[in-house]
Amino acid sequence: MSRYAIRDSITTAQLLKRKQAGEKISVVTCYDSAFGRIVEESPVDVVLVGDSLGNVMLGFDSTLPVTVEQMIHHASAVTRVVHRPLVVVDMPFMSYQVSVEDALRNCGRVLKETSAQAVKLEGGRRIAPQVKALVDAGIPVMGHLGLTPQSVHTLGGYKVQGKGVDARNTMIEDALILTEAGIFALVLEMVPAELAAEITLKIAVPTIGIGAGAGCDGQVLVMHDLLGFDQDFNPKFLKKYANLGAVIGEALTKYDKEVKSGSFPASKNEF
Ligand code: KIV
Repeated sequence: MSRYAIRDSITTAQLLKRKQAGEKISVVTCYDSAFGRIVEESPVDVVLVGDSLGNVMLGFDSTLPVTVEQMIHHASAVTRVVHRPLVVVDMPFMSYQVSVEDALRNCGRVLKETSAQAVKLEGGRRIAPQVKALVDAGIPVMGHLGLTPQSVHTLGGYKVQGKGVDARNTMIEDALILTEAGIFALVLEMVPAELAAEITLKIAVPTIGIGAGAGCDGQVLVMHDLLGFDQDFNPKFLKKYANLGAVIGEALTKYDKEVKSGSFPASKNEF
């Protein structure tokens, strides 16, 4: 392989071409190698190592406690086995908000230590200087507007954003400002479908929706949500493509029963 070959993964430029061609983009979260191997063999385009790993993998009740070290730990597990999809790493709360220097240092560290190709930052015009500095430094940035879970306490809960004229106009302006600053794609979370469709038409880069309707250029879901790990988590935006929580529960019950009855291991499992 040439010294100048980069791995043969989907690129940010290809995502832009998808938008221009009207082809949809699929994104899924992933936090470890076990799932990473399965995503690698799937046709999904982009893997997001989301800071939702705080809730999904680490048992926190929000994304706020997640650290840069935890993101690096999980993202490295993903990039060891995921080579075809573009890998984007969420930057955790307070790793980029304080200053441009913080953003450069922490995002640079994430790219150097994980081999991921891009980072994602939450927020609008307030983080535009960080986005511009990162892109200038060679770090591709995905934006995130609407329900930004790192701001759950200022937003007053996990609810639909961009309702009302002011909130709507602010979000459209933020999307344009972030695009101008250099983002390669924009996540829109819990945004009225009609507003997300309008932003999608107004900005040059792909929009990736979660609870933002069919007018976005692509969709993202949390892996464990779409696989149905949590039977009690049923928000309106979610479609469960499997019911793995129940499947795993049944398997564990059967295993427990067979161990306790002595029917496992059978002679064919013995050496
Ligand atoms: O952390 C995450 O998983 C996310 C997606 C829900 C967009 O930010």
